[in-house]
Amino acid sequence: MSVLIESVAATELAVLMESCVDTGAAAAAGAMEGLRRSYRWLRRNSVQLLFERRYGVRTSDVVGLEEFGLARQDRVYYSAANWQTLRRTLPRRDVGEHDVFIDLGSGMGRMVLEAASRYPFGKVIGVELSEQLNDIARQNIANTRLRLRCKDVDLVRSDVLDYDIPDDVSVVFLNNPFRGETFATVMERLIASVDRNPRPVTVIYFNPVEEAFLLSTGRFRCLRTVTRGRRSVEDSPFGSVRVYAITERAGA
Ligand SMILES: C[S@@+](CC[C@H](N)C(=O)[O-])C[C@H]1O[C@@H](n2cnc3c(N)ncnc32)[C@H](O)[C@@H]1O
Repeated sequence: MSVLIESVAATELAVLMESCVDTGAAAAAGAMEGLRRSYRWLRRNSVQLLFERRYGVRTSDVVGLEEFGLARQDRVYYSAANWQTLRRTLPRRDVGEHDVFIDLGSGMGRMVLEAASRYPFGKVIGVELSEQLNDIARQNIANTRLRLRCKDVDLVRSDVLDYDIPDDVSVVFLNNPFRGETFATVMERLIASVDRNPRPVTVIYFNPVEEAFLLSTGRFRCLRTVTRGRRSVEDSPFGSVRVYAITERAGA
């Protein structure tokens, strides 16, 4: 499938390049940039779909929360982070059997699957608002052909505001799941958990839309940034991942 997409896109590019000679060069160059972007998007998505078919999982849809009557201000629709996001941001050597991973807003479970299959976590948790999305995550875990290194996977159906983050969680994943007050409340609770039970906690934030709030707490130190292409997070948070450590309370 990806070979077909690549050859179609290459032909279209060639035709468009020829049109640059005949028509307004600026307009054609703009169109070509758009086509290049679509081509990259198609290539990336076809690779992700082939991966899903191979491993017997379904996580690629984009689903609005209106479909389930759950849309509210602050809540973000379902769209998965790229497969390999964890591989690019979290070295395997940093994870041991005492580590606990949590994806807040876990959707169809793509990052739960990546965490449980790639790393020796002691426990992997997903927390998801929608029952329908969480059911699909459960089916993915039950039916996948990925080998799960971590056997203790818990998929919790809950509004994150009704969920208590366990005091042994050590890696928190967020793919821009909620914003505003909800985001602030959850991050304050995470800080409170670290203060109750001091421990190293890594936060991996894909599309870090609410980074300003994290930094305003004075408790999140950015360790690294992974961006796609040449964009910077300052241009747009979308397409970037930031990794933070939660620092100790002043005077602790
Ligand atoms: C952008 S998707 C991320 C999905 C998943 N983390 C991934 O990267 O594959 C955001 C998810 O957060 C969920 N969500 C939004 N608000 C929530 C809330 N208050 N509590 C729990 N989950 C929520 C949505 O239903 C959606 O599945």
